Amino acid sequence: MIANGVYGYRGTLDEDDATKGVAWNINGLYDRVGEAWRESVNLYNPLYTILSYRGNPITLSDDRVVRHKQQLGLSKGQHVRNSVIDVDGTQVHIHSERFADQHHRNLLHASYAFSCDQPLTLELYSGIDGIVYDLSGSHLENTTFDYDESFLIASGQTQEQKIPVHVIKTMKVNFDISPEIIKDNNKVLRRWQLTMEPGRTYKLSIHAGMIIGDGDIEDLKQSLSEAKKKGYNHLLADNKEFWDEKWHISDVDVGHHDKADKALTYAIYMLISHRPPSEDVSIPARGLSGQVYKGAVFWDTEMYMFPFYLNTDQAAARNILRYRINGLSGAKQKAKEYGYKGAFYAWESQENGYDACSDYNLSDPDTGKPVRTYFKENQIHINGAIAYALNQYVKRTGDVSILYEGGLEMLFETAVFYADRVKQTAKTKYECFGVMGPDEYHEHVNNNAYTNVMIYHTLDVLISSIVLLRKDDREKTNAIVGVYQKRLKKIRDVRRHILMPKPNEDGLIEQFDGYFELNDVTPKTVLKKKRSGNEYLGGKDGLATPTQVIKQADVILLLVLFPGMFPLSIQRANLDYYATRTEHGSTLSKAMYAQLAARLGKANDYFDMFLEGASVDLTGEYKDHAGGTYIGGTHLAACGGAYMTTVYGFAGLKHKKAMLMAESNMPKAIRNLHFRVNMRGNIAYVTIRRNIVTIKWEETT
Ligand code: BGC
Repeated sequence: MIANGVYGYRGTLDEDDATKGVAWNINGLYDRVGEAWRESVNLYNPLYTILSYRGNPITLSDDRVVRHKQQLGLSKGQHVRNSVIDVDGTQVHIHSERFADQHHRNLLHASYAFSCDQPLTLELYSGIDGIVYDLSGSHLENTTFDYDESFLIASGQTQEQKIPVHVIKTMKVNFDISPEIIKDNNKVLRRWQLTMEPGRTYKLSIHAGMIIGDGDIEDLKQSLSEAKKKGYNHLLADNKEFWDEKWHISDVDVGHHDKADKALTYAIYMLISHRPPSEDVSIPARGLSGQVYKGAVFWDTEMYMFPFYLNTDQAAARNILRYRINGLSGAKQKAKEYGYKGAFYAWESQENGYDACSDYNLSDPDTGKPVRTYFKENQIHINGAIAYALNQYVKRTGDVSILYEGGLEMLFETAVFYADRVKQTAKTKYECFGVMGPDEYHEHVNNNAYTNVMIYHTLDVLISSIVLLRKDDREKTNAIVGVYQKRLKKIRDVRRHILMPKPNEDGLIEQFDGYFELNDVTPKTVLKKKRSGNEYLGGKDGLATPTQVIKQADVILLLVLFPGMFPLSIQRANLDYYATRTEHGSTLSKAMYAQLAARLGKANDYFDMFLEGASVDLTGEYKDHAGGTYIGGTHLAACGGAYMTTVYGFAGLKHKKAMLMAESNMPKAIRNLHFRVNMRGNIAYVTIRRNIVTIKWEETT
């Protein structure tokens, strides 16, 4: 897959069509068809290119493939394909490349070259395929195709909001044959009839672009003409400069451990590829790999991906926060719908903070009956994730301007929601009922330790932000605070008296009230009882529900995020306890165990777990269905988790204002570790070699 934050294009083949899941997935463009799930939109496919012999398409049908290889060039963000196909005794070689333009992020470039070892007459077709792969209904309507001498154009609009979309493509060939045009209801193509000379390479370069909404078609044509003039290789070289710069600051080098190196390089490639281009969009849970999870933004972004951007690309980190600030109206609307004051952020956020999470996210694999889920209303910890990220950003960058630009208001609104949502159960006691922690298997629980701490933290961040801002500009701050003056008393009271988790006599933190009384069985016992492969284990009737088996890091995440809150002995006791009860049914889980373990000097014991979590997209070893719902795609939170474990776990990175510290918590398998971190415009180069840590400051560019 290639991506640039504006779009993702899946690693399918040039000749593939919607039946093979080709998707040019657009960030921030959503649509709903009838009652189906509202999801992100895939555009018309401008890379569709196919060779044909005597009217038969040349594809990778098994009996004819001599060789086939697909590669993802992580250093320059390029997808490369090489195939040799036997066509009636002649070997046809196909070499294609494509990359997402990282400078002009509405452009996509490809090159397609082919040759043969004996004379052969073939037809080459290349154009825009208007049949689009979709998960939940067909989103583009009123599709029309057009062409002129230089361009092919497909236009249409989304069903729900009638947002116009245009895909435009231009091509250049290195042979002197005039093409014919083929246009029907589903596509517009150019067709060349070629009598090929053996040994000669025939080349086609493709430059495509898109307009979403009211852009100017002539402007796009102009950019495409310039791209065509520049040529594919030149553009690729320009793009490589972007990647070189990004890799310089972002690379995490783990020496000679091939598996870890591959997994981390892949993870960082994905994170760079998905950096949000503006404050209008963020990063969906499955990145831009498609429509799974509705192309929506989850807490995954703030909790698992954000630290990477904070260290390497603070403009992207700021965009992630600004996206949430812009979504405040949607969050206020959601709070109101549930009868609360303030802002309750979307569990599955689409544009303007709209919550796309449905009440029935899953179904019973046996009966197909929808299962009522409470992710949307129970997972109030989403507010805390946003406040946590905002606080990290302000502390780290010293950039308080974001607080004036809606950040403080957002903190107030999220805090007002929390203060309203908790229940006062005694004069000096607030509790929080009916929630779901990160462990989604147990719903409607009371006093989830993670959630209560997040509530406390959000209120605390608000209060400390007011103090910080007052030092900066008292008048401006007071103007914002004034609006919420009458809410502050309750906020302060809740902050002081919210029930905080207390370890029991064994040092264990109970995940929620009554958790320790649940059946104490292992994940294996629960999994053995499954009737079908993708049966959902949680919810009302789930197999894990009456047990202590949890889906993902919950108390463990709390310990990762607040390292100073409990003594090391308590952290150790909880790591051991919860590790044996966690099913890791989410790809967000393993990295957090590995990270905590590293900090506690147990990196070796959890190294395999780190590798498994970091490699999910490479091994494909994850659930691609849960409770009847397809959930495959790219796992951006696992990518972020892999980064966090290495930098914050193995290297124990800590920052306090402009100070940076690191320590060696390295697993035996990794001897050397190097990475860079941006600290207020200065670049720190952190090295751990044979457990000796050095931090060198480099000149900034
Ligand atoms: C996890 C959530 C996560 C979501 C999207 C679910 O399986 O339990 O924590 O936000 O996937 O990645």
